[in-house]
Amino acid sequence: MAEFITVGRPDEVPEGEMRQFQVGGEDVAVANVDGELHAFSDVCTHRQCSLAEGDLEGTTVTCMCHGSEFDVTTGDVLGGPATEPVQTFDIAVEGDELKIGI
Ligand code: FES
Repeated sequence: MAEFITVGRPDEVPEGEMRQFQVGGEDVAVANVDGELHAFSDVCTHRQCSLAEGDLEGTTVTCMCHGSEFDVTTGDVLGGPATEPVQTFDIAVEGDELKIGI
């Protein structure tokens, strides 16, 4: 069962932006899409670039390195060169605490 770990505050991730957090030894990206937060592995499955440093357009993150696209809500690949999805994580906001389930 996932253990929820506090990583920061929800207002650290403004609408339309992404931030990277370290949680349980993993690099996790959090994207804010229209006020809704989504957590997924920050490590692109192509060549391990940080997805949080890429571009967020709606629910699609584009890797800055070679342009792979992933759906931040499911982790699915929307465009290559990546072929493997990224892992997604549960996320919870309690008061001013942002928690990621890992
Ligand atoms: S490392 Fe992300 S597309 Fe190549």
